[in-house]
Amino acid sequence: MPLVSMRQLLDEASKRGYGVGAFNVNNMEQIQAIMEAARETQSPVIVQASRGARSYSQDKFLYHLMLAATELYPEIPTVLHLDHGNSVDTCKSAIELGFTSVMMDGSLMPDGKTPSSFEYNVKATREVVEYAHARGVTVEGEIGVLGGIEDGHGAGGTGLEHVTDPDQAVEFVEKTGLDALAIAIGTSHGAYKFTKKPDGSVLKMDRLIAIHKRLPNVHLVMHGSSSVPKDLQDVINKYGGSLKPTWGVPVEEIQLGIKNGVRKINVDTDNRLAITGAIRKVLFETPEKFDPRDYMKPAREAMKKVVAERMTQFGQAGHAGDYASISLKEMTKFYAESAVAAK
Ligand code: G3H
Ligand code: 13P
Ligand code: ZN
Repeated sequence: MPLVSMRQLLDEASKRGYGVGAFNVNNMEQIQAIMEAARETQSPVIVQASRGARSYSQDKFLYHLMLAATELYPEIPTVLHLDHGNSVDTCKSAIELGFTSVMMDGSLMPDGKTPSSFEYNVKATREVVEYAHARGVTVEGEIGVLGGIEDGHGAGGTGLEHVTDPDQAVEFVEKTGLDALAIAIGTSHGAYKFTKKPDGSVLKMDRLIAIHKRLPNVHLVMHGSSSVPKDLQDVINKYGGSLKPTWGVPVEEIQLGIKNGVRKINVDTDNRLAITGAIRKVLFETPEKFDPRDYMKPAREAMKKVVAERMTQFGQAGHAGDYASISLKEMTKFYAESAVAAK
């Protein structure tokens, strides 16, 4: 089946009460790992690329790899989503290339670091919604600001500086007409999220639940949702790495989120850790090896294992065959009809 709209995947997930992992990719092996995990667990899947990934892969390489994925795994409903689009133009260029879903992250200014005003966020997100929906493409927006990643996309900080305000979330959804809403509840991007197993003082699940109560029909998105498992940290450190002790988002907290409206869960760091650990192990144990396949194969396998585990934990496993795909053209009609009905 061709790449499908994220709105369809999330609507289906909502009907049956499960979450869908959105996994970041930069290269062929990561795409293969996700698609193999999806086949093994029979999961619908969201593959996402950041601006950095688009630039690393020269955009078209990535897009054509995704077309290969749809040819080779026709039974898997697969979305290609832009992660953290920093401007209206970035979102438009992704849509023109063939992404079936985009995130307009107007919680930050186009520099990807400076928190923006509510008015700026509404205007940029609304503009993307109009452009995207006219083409059947899904839009994710963000209200509140995540922490982490000083040198890439992100405002830095702990993640508690700009936790989402439920009233603002309601107003933001009304004014933008988006499909999925990313909220800030204390998580941050990267490996260093929490200094100990998080409790309610740093991971604000109560806030998530309050937002869901106000917006019961909106698909919520949890960013910064890697669990940063100790075993993956240990492999890296055992084979010459130097990660400091750290904690991620426990899977049971994500599962609580899924019971309360979370339909998309963003995971990148756990896969980075799995890949790096596997490569380090091969190079450490067999320093005479120099064929990239000798370490890329175990790296791909290690990522597949993490992705398959998350697919099972999020509940998307077993749901790949539940529905036939809706084309972007049909989605365009759906959005046009919903706009008429709303008047
Ligand atoms: O949003 C963060 C994702 O982990 C992507 O990271 O911008 O380094 O590709 P990146
Ligand atoms: P992690 O760094 O926790 O994997 O978060 C990824 C993410 O939110 C991508 O948008
Ligand atoms: Zn993110």
